[in-house]
Amino acid sequence: MALGYDAVYAEWLRSPTLHGIWQATAAGEEEPPGFENLNFLTRGELDRIVAELDLRSGEPVMELACGAGGLSVWLAQRPGIAVVGMDLSRVGVRVAARRAVAQSVRDAVFVVGAAGAAPVADASMAGVMSVDSLQYVPNKLAALRDVTRVLAPSRRMVFTAFELEPARVVGLPVLGVDPVADYAPEGCHKSVTRRVCTR
Ligand SMILES: C[S@@+](CC[C@H](N)C(=O)[O-])C[C@H]1O[C@@H](n2cnc3c(N)ncnc32)[C@H](O)[C@@H]1O
Repeated sequence: MALGYDAVYAEWLRSPTLHGIWQATAAGEEEPPGFENLNFLTRGELDRIVAELDLRSGEPVMELACGAGGLSVWLAQRPGIAVVGMDLSRVGVRVAARRAVAQSVRDAVFVVGAAGAAPVADASMAGVMSVDSLQYVPNKLAALRDVTRVLAPSRRMVFTAFELEPARVVGLPVLGVDPVADYAPEGCHKSVTRRVCTR
């Protein structure tokens, strides 16, 4: 997994082809240059994640599986929000740290780490977000237990994950097989390719 995403993030920096394909098929026109998140969410959905975290000024938040740091840097640009981004990919973390410097963002730090063993102190985070990544994590129970360890009392984790159709991804690198077939909470209905949640 780490090697696969290392390769993705290394290419991401230098491949106009990869950028072009991603922009045309997934990111859409609403993504500004330099944002470079690797997920399938709209800007409205990203805004909703931030709103659901209900952060107050000066509070730290962790992005679990931050990839190349597009979301963490975007979030840390908001006044008073400090972000710790963590990802399995060393290249992703390096790119993320460079992105923060390039965008003059001071309140974002990036660390290499695996879900389930975040190098973050107990009860130190006012929120945890994770976008389109938990589907890859082999031990989800351990990952979620670790999230409860790092979260301050009564604070929230907000996450999205995508579901893979095993028949369509067989043999593809990186994707693997996710034992969770359905991430939707009760109260969600399925539109053609997305689950739309009402709560
Ligand atoms: C689809 S990318 C999403 C990255 C980022 N959240 C974004 O929206 O741009 C999935 C990320 O999950 C990371 N990842 C996969 N398994 C992981 C694990 N067990 N622990 C930490 N990160 C993991 C990958 O390295 C990759 O960066």
